[in-house]
Formats: sequence, structure tokens, C-alpha cells
Amino acid sequence: MQTVSTVADLRRIVAGWHRAGERVAVVPTMGALHEGHLSLVRAALARTPRVVVTLFVNPTQFNSATDLSAYPRTLEADAAKLVGLGVPLLYAPGEAEMYPDGFATTVTVGGVSEGLCGAFRPGHFAGVATVVTKLLTQTQADIAFFGEKDCQQLHVIRRLVADLDLPVEIVGCPIVREADGLALSSRNAHLSAAERAVAPHLAATLLAAAERIAQGAAVDAELAAGRSALLAAGFADVDYLELRAADNLQALDRLDRPARLLAAAWLGQTRLIDNVPVMPKAA
Ligand code: PAF
Repeated sequence: MQTVSTVADLRRIVAGWHRAGERVAVVPTMGALHEGHLSLVRAALARTPRVVVTLFVNPTQFNSATDLSAYPRTLEADAAKLVGLGVPLLYAPGEAEMYPDGFATTVTVGGVSEGLCGAFRPGHFAGVATVVTKLLTQTQADIAFFGEKDCQQLHVIRRLVADLDLPVEIVGCPIVREADGLALSSRNAHLSAAERAVAPHLAATLLAAAERIAQGAAVDAELAAGRSALLAAGFADVDYLELRAADNLQALDRLDRPARLLAAAWLGQTRLIDNVPVMPKAA
């Protein structure tokens, strides 16, 4: 695996692949790679051998300096995992390469960035949208892979790619879970043993509420019951638990189309997010 840290080196390699008529895939990450990321890499490698994994802990998408400095940085272990999968190129730019002096442009995506995580993490999606736009244009990839665990992020990225006419196919990949249902996340590493024991209740609560809503239960009542269940299980706070349309994340108060149930909840200092599909029963 080659590792590069400048746009110039990255572009030289990718241009060579394109000249040879090959399709190029990108898997953007912030490192601390777990099976969820590796599933994206495998999906990318199934489409083309020319896969670029990007690793950049993007400061502009963090809401606090503490959260940014606590983010795990495990470059060597990450690189070893990528070598094991046969990834040909790792792009790991420094902050000065991504945001050189004078940098003054922000990509903000209206609509889908609002509400849910957008309401609790001001500026987060502008940070994500800006860095993803840069990573897509820097890599000139033909296909880009993102996880469905960050469901709102995936919608924001699909929107910006459509609105800015970026010539890239966006592929969403299913959530990877631990055996007890907990969605994989680099934030899981921050959980104490006691918090880790409570964490699977997030997925279990979402699945139970989704099942009852699909059976015809009233949405409002199920969302309120779900919140109470999370607090009773030991979550310190619930930022949101909401039913949204699967195609555009519009708020729904009844299940009249394919939907997604999304939640964010706190275990101590750690904020976990998760989501599950909810399908209306065929009439
Ligand atoms: O999902 C992530 O890890 C990040 O938000 C991303 C897409 C790599 C942008 O920094």
C-alpha cells in the first residue's frame, strides 16, 4: 500500500489509474478503523481494485475541543488493517494540506442538515459537507462509500453531490453490529464496562418501537415510550428519537411510506447514534 499526504501525489496516482481506464473508489474515514469501516472497504474493493481510503480527523466537524482531542488516532494499526485487505492507496493529509492559510469556503446543505443531529451539533454538517466535497474533488473518485449508521450524514452527502453536480456515485452500506446489537462506532471505545452493558438497549429499543409502529401502533406514543425505555435502561439523556421518511428524512407522524427510526442518546460523556428501517405493512 502506498501512503500519500498531498493532493498532488494523490492526483498523480489517481490520474494514472484513470488513464488506464480504471474506475476509482474512495472510502472517506477519520481512522480508528473498525469492522464497520472495513465493510465499506470490502464493498469498494468488490467494485474496483483501485480503492483510496482517506484518513483525516476533520476538526471542523467536531463541536468541542475535548471531543476532537479525545478522538482515537491509530494510524499504524489502521494502515495494517488496510494492507490486510489489499487496499492500494491511503491518503492521510495533514491539517495544513486540507485547510491551508486563507481557507475561507464552507459548503452548507439546507433541509436534510436541519433537525436530528443538526439541531444538537451546530455546524457539524457544514464541517462534514465541506470536507467531503474536498475529499471527493481531491480524489476524483468515481464511486464513494459511506455507512448507513450516519444516516443523516449520508443524506447530506447525497444532497450535496446532486446539488453540486459532482460526478461520483454514492453508495450507502448497511450498519455493522456487535453480536448484542450495538452498532459499531469508534465512540464505543469510550464506554466504561457498565455503559457498554447498557449500550445495546439503543438498538433493541429502536427495533422494538419500529416493530410496533409497523404493526400500526401510534407513532407519538411509541416515540415517548422509547425515550422512557432508554432513560430507564440507564441512558443519561436522549437527544432525539424520531420517525423520518427514508427517502428524504422528512418528519413523519404516521407510517405512510418507508421510514427510518433514528435516535441519539448519551451514556455518560459518550453520545451514541443508531437507526433502523421501518416499513409500512403492505395493504
Ligand atoms: O463518517 C465519517 O467518518 C466522517 O464524517 C467523514 C465522512 C470521513 C468526514 O470527515
